[in-house]
Amino acid sequence: MVDSDRAFLDPVLVLGSGIVGSAVSEHLTASGRRVVAASRRNPGYLTVPWVRCDVSDADNVSSVSSSVGAGTVVFAHGPSDPDGLGGGKAIGPWRVHPLAARLFSRAVPAARMVLISTDNVFSDAAAPVPESARPVPRNLYGRCKRLAELHIEQTVGALIVRVSLVYQHGTAGGAGHGLRETFPQYCQRMLAEGNRLELPWDQWTTPVTAMDLGVVMAELLRQGTSGLVHVGGTRMLSRYRWGVEIAEANGYCAGRVTAVARQASRWASRPAMSCLCTERSDLPEAVYRLIGRSDRCADRSGARTQLQAAAGH
Ligand SMILES: NC(=O)c1ccc[n+]([C@@H]2O[C@H](COP(=O)([O-])OP(=O)(O)OC[C@H]3O[C@@H](n4cnc5c(N)ncnc54)[C@H](OP(=O)(O)O)[C@@H]3O)[C@@H](O)[C@H]2O)c1
Repeated sequence: MVDSDRAFLDPVLVLGSGIVGSAVSEHLTASGRRVVAASRRNPGYLTVPWVRCDVSDADNVSSVSSSVGAGTVVFAHGPSDPDGLGGGKAIGPWRVHPLAARLFSRAVPAARMVLISTDNVFSDAAAPVPESARPVPRNLYGRCKRLAELHIEQTVGALIVRVSLVYQHGTAGGAGHGLRETFPQYCQRMLAEGNRLELPWDQWTTPVTAMDLGVVMAELLRQGTSGLVHVGGTRMLSRYRWGVEIAEANGYCAGRVTAVARQASRWASRPAMSCLCTERSDLPEAVYRLIGRSDRCADRSGARTQLQAAAGH
């Protein structure tokens, strides 16, 4: 058996069972991989085998690593929500990211490391960011994810996938269903509860569904892709514009959604432009159907013009 066969047959250990981890686990399983999911609590909704593991605990990491015998480790654990952690002003919770990267690369040095990273490794850009851009994190979340990246990229065959905002359609998942509430679910809930929505016009994303991310990850692992890949959706949206679309699609008056400045909103710690695109030309064709490419990322939304105008005032 050659090494690449062995890597395919050995289980994939997916760290984290939240929005990203559960979607990745499900799609890797559907693509024929053996998957074991790990988190501190069994979320109850997983369809794959699960083990308890605190990725910041060296003893836990070492016992789970030897019991699972993973050929690939996917880092999809939290924390992941700077808005929910008071803008991410305390470094404590974020240290888990570089720590887990260090512990697992020591515990399973022969395994292939796959890190799900974030657009938060960039500060304010003027357009969707490709892989060649230099990371300059704006917040502690981004800084700690960047430290994890620096660690993982030194391992053999490593894959680092920076992902834009991940969401789910409709009310599947979210609060009450075990998963964290995503942005569109927040908008829907607020509108359903009769609230007005104040959303930043100057915080732009290239959102990607959890399902699309699962498909992309399964394809990248099937192909054995390594290096750095940017995964953003094919549309660039401000949170305000997205909120208006959600209101209209659900039969609410769009006038209940008001545009505010990012700094005055709960998304103040985010970069103005958290949009990603890929400039790689060697990815599987199925991936290109789902993600934004740098040669097709013309700024049709006017985001750049609007942000420049705002900066000039
Ligand atoms: N969601 C997005 O929009 C997005 C975008 C880009 C990148 N990402 C990246 O994707 C990763 C996961 O994000 P997510 O949105 O899926 O988060 P999530 O829904 O909040 O899920 C986080 C998962 O990690 C587990 N976890 C947290 N701390 C842990 C620990 N110390 N040990 C083991 N498991 C732990 C949680 O379960 P327990 O609490 O039970 O342990 C949960 O299963 C993050 O690293 C984030 O940087 C997410």
